[in-house]
Amino acid sequence: MGENENNFKSKADFVSSRAMNPLTSGEQPHDIFCDNTQTAATTATQLFRNPEMFAILSRKVIPEYLASQTATQLSIWSAGCSNGAEAYSLAMVAAQTLSALESGKRYSVFGTDINPERIAEGRKGVYLLPAIRSLTDEYRHILNAYALVKRSEVTISEEIKICTKLGLFDIRNRPKKHTFNYIVCNHVLQYYDTSGQIEIISNLKGALRRGGYMYLEGITDKTVAGSGIVKIAGYTKLFQAT
Ligand SMILES: C[S@@+](CC[C@H](N)C(=O)[O-])C[C@H]1O[C@@H](n2cnc3c(N)ncnc32)[C@H](O)[C@@H]1O
Repeated sequence: MGENENNFKSKADFVSSRAMNPLTSGEQPHDIFCDNTQTAATTATQLFRNPEMFAILSRKVIPEYLASQTATQLSIWSAGCSNGAEAYSLAMVAAQTLSALESGKRYSVFGTDINPERIAEGRKGVYLLPAIRSLTDEYRHILNAYALVKRSEVTISEEIKICTKLGLFDIRNRPKKHTFNYIVCNHVLQYYDTSGQIEIISNLKGALRRGGYMYLEGITDKTVAGSGIVKIAGYTKLFQAT
């Protein structure tokens, strides 16, 4: 696909959207549902998609966070979260892991997207069964603990919703909040050309806490080389800022 001035791989995939900065003003995302917001060609998502992302949270990010004995709360960002399924999944894994380790620590998850319809949908916290079609036993167990699973739909519990804030934000902007332990950007970057990917990664990097991790899907070696990030040994999609 050809590159263009908006850094999208194809103008048919994305068109430019107005700057929205929920992460620039405290902990609560602003809801700026502007009428010129454009959506991606695909907002496909599901609960507990890409199990590796969640295993990294429970087996690496959280144990390292607890070992650091920091007083601050664990903070996670799902950048390009579509209808929030990924953000709620991260919250459920964080809740389950922190509770299993009896840490007494709190967590927060931000889920942001440029698509207002998906964010509004996500705030309801109700997903139809196709959203969990390929769950492993491990994540089905976590889902049953933190959501009401009925025959045709899944309702996320209030306990999880309280810790998960969904809002509009264009990741081509730089957020002010820079205290995230774990940022995931999954199935988003592949729609951008190399310079667009580098710009977005620079914004994500700026939001990371020292020692924090980024789970980035869909980037090339050229992007990695130009972004000042290093791949963590033993993982294909896990990075830290240099
Ligand atoms: C294919 S979905 C991926 C959803 C989720 N991350 C997952 O992997 O299941 C891609 C999402 O990225 C969002 N997106 C694309 N460009 C964005 C941008 N510049 N800022 C915020 N969200 C963006 C789209 O609106 C869409 O919801």
